[in-house]
Amino acid sequence: MMRYFDQPPYNFIHLEETGSTNSYFKLLREKGNVDAFTVATAEYQSAGRGQRGNFWESERTRNLTFSIYIRPAFLLAKKQFLLSQIISLSIKEELDRYATGFCIKWPNDIYHNEQKICGILIENNLTEDRISESIIGIGVNINQQIFNSTAPNPVSLRKITGDEYDREMILKHILCRFYDYYRMLEKESLTELANKYHKALFRKEGFHLFSDKNGKFSAKTQRVEPDGTLVLLDTKGCERNYNFKEVSFILS
Ligand code: BTN
Repeated sequence: MMRYFDQPPYNFIHLEETGSTNSYFKLLREKGNVDAFTVATAEYQSAGRGQRGNFWESERTRNLTFSIYIRPAFLLAKKQFLLSQIISLSIKEELDRYATGFCIKWPNDIYHNEQKICGILIENNLTEDRISESIIGIGVNINQQIFNSTAPNPVSLRKITGDEYDREMILKHILCRFYDYYRMLEKESLTELANKYHKALFRKEGFHLFSDKNGKFSAKTQRVEPDGTLVLLDTKGCERNYNFKEVSFILS
């Protein structure tokens, strides 16, 4: 079992087993108030949820599966992608300490070269034009060595470096970074964040294959807008704008 640690401003709930840490927070909210910056970690999720209704595979006690509950009411709903940016950077920068080759694959994954090491599932509640609550669910593959699901390209830190890692330490570092970035959002100092995020993007150098509803095409990543729109530049010099699920990267 993971040890607890005191890490202001967070409160911790440690679960040996749950369906999903994101769903756990939803149930907790139905029963009453939850403090902002509560983190639920699970040794095992029996129904871990991924993007597009997929199952998130994570071997018992081997990885990090956790959710952060926050109330970022200062954030306009149209800027909700900033939450994805700050958690992605927090994780990528922590992983950079152990190996090279990590990047952020728009919109919500962390990759090591062509393989996925982390998935993020953010579920927001909006009140009028603001984000009243956000559950940020994170799965980072740390020590798992064999993956059984049909996910095409999973990898873990252990598979990359051959070493075994202290999950609690990695969690602590991610949460420290996340809090620092969150404070930057509160202060609206967004330029540094935007620059770091752009630098960290998957396939931002050169032209690569993508596919949209009209088929495959070659393009380079220009930028990601504050609302999360991905802007690609195709080989004819035209910008193409995409919302989530409208475009996919063709992986090698
Ligand atoms: C993805 O499909 O890439 C997103 C995966 C998100 C998985 C994490 S694990 C902790 C939290 N609880 C869940 O059920 N899902 C997220």
